[in-house]
Amino acid sequence: MQILLLGSGGREHALAWKLNQSVWANPLYIAPGNAGTSQCGINVELDISNFEEIGKFCKEKKIEMLVVGPEEPLVKGLSDYFKADPELEKIFFIGPSKAGARLEGSKSFAKAFMQRHNIPTAGYKEFTIDNYEEGIKYLNEHSLPIVLKADGLAAGKGVVICQNHLEAIAEFELMIQQSKFGDASKKVVVEAFLEGIEMSVFVLTDGKNYALLPEAKDYKRINEGDKGPNTGGMGAVSPVPFAHGPFMKKVEEKIIRPTIAGLLQEQIDYKGFIFFGLIKVNDEPFVIEYNCRLGDPETEVIIPRLENDLVGLFVSACNQELDTVKINVDARTAITIVAVSRGYPAAYEKDFVIEGLGIEVPNDSLIFHAGTVMKDEKVVTNGGRVLCVTSFAETVYEAVDKSRDVLEQIYYDGIYYRRDIGYEFL
Ligand code: AMP
Ligand code: GLY
Repeated sequence: MQILLLGSGGREHALAWKLNQSVWANPLYIAPGNAGTSQCGINVELDISNFEEIGKFCKEKKIEMLVVGPEEPLVKGLSDYFKADPELEKIFFIGPSKAGARLEGSKSFAKAFMQRHNIPTAGYKEFTIDNYEEGIKYLNEHSLPIVLKADGLAAGKGVVICQNHLEAIAEFELMIQQSKFGDASKKVVVEAFLEGIEMSVFVLTDGKNYALLPEAKDYKRINEGDKGPNTGGMGAVSPVPFAHGPFMKKVEEKIIRPTIAGLLQEQIDYKGFIFFGLIKVNDEPFVIEYNCRLGDPETEVIIPRLENDLVGLFVSACNQELDTVKINVDARTAITIVAVSRGYPAAYEKDFVIEGLGIEVPNDSLIFHAGTVMKDEKVVTNGGRVLCVTSFAETVYEAVDKSRDVLEQIYYDGIYYRRDIGYEFL
């Protein structure tokens, strides 16, 4: 089966690595990919926001399955574009319709959806320029801290947690009046702050049934001890020790099942991943956010733990047969540590040669590339998050130790990584 995977991060390298293990994948193309994905398939230079270019490539190469890594093409309607073209509509497409991708693309849609289906989430109200004054009044009377969310996609920066009312009002003005996040912040969701511990839960759904994938916890802050600014993610752990059976049962009953039933009831076409960003408050799960894709770096721990054939799973999802599938998971712990560029998540330089990639990696460790590219036959840095090292072990401690051992043998100018991933579970 000819497969095309869209994206270029660590998530896509992990997906490409897994797809390439399937006897069904032949060949596997990755667009645009990175230096790591070129070892799992054929990298092709396509602009993933150019639907015509993707469609043309799929026709030329007779692509039979398209897997979309990042959210943006989904939120912009790539699936609907394919469904509207008689030559493309039959392609097995992994990723929701534009309507389904609103779970991530519009915070306002996601909140209203959760209300309609009684899914536990923080209380909220939404505002635009039309009820701006009412918003100021609402903020002034709100308990602290206050969470402000730009409605649309804002490259992961659209959520601001304000510690006092003045700050909240200033941020509210910036978002709505000054378009701080462009059109994405024309509408703002103001919600109550939930105190608890966060984790990520993933399912693959066919719009009717779902397969529960391994859960994970990611580490967003740049510095050890969870300090400093937010990043795309500095590491992840799976399984999550506090996500024991009874808690996950609540997650399925109160969150996952009502979400899938809600999509079905609202006739929203959804064949793809749902990423539930959860917070556990006194042993009760609440939804912080939905994403219409897998997480990064969570994918780099959950996909290596998954024992099923990924192409087979995707075919079952597209045929709406996920009820017949049994998910098998490696019981060991997987952790990943992300190595980033000096300066990240603020400005950073690129093009530094990465040394040590040829080292002998132990059996239970894997190197996944993120921001890397081949230049003059050398692998050089090409992004803020450069690569990550995933390791398996019986305990978090041993797994972290293995990844650190591998990372100590890799070098580029400005390499930085957290050495404390999973620290609270040691
Ligand atoms: P998001 O971009 O929706 O993932 O939000 C970014 C981060 O903001 C989340 O990972 C949480 O750490 C935090 N956050 C979002 N909403 C809330 C909330 N209602 N209560 C507490 N923290 C929140
Ligand atoms: N690691 C969080 C995300 O992918 O959104």
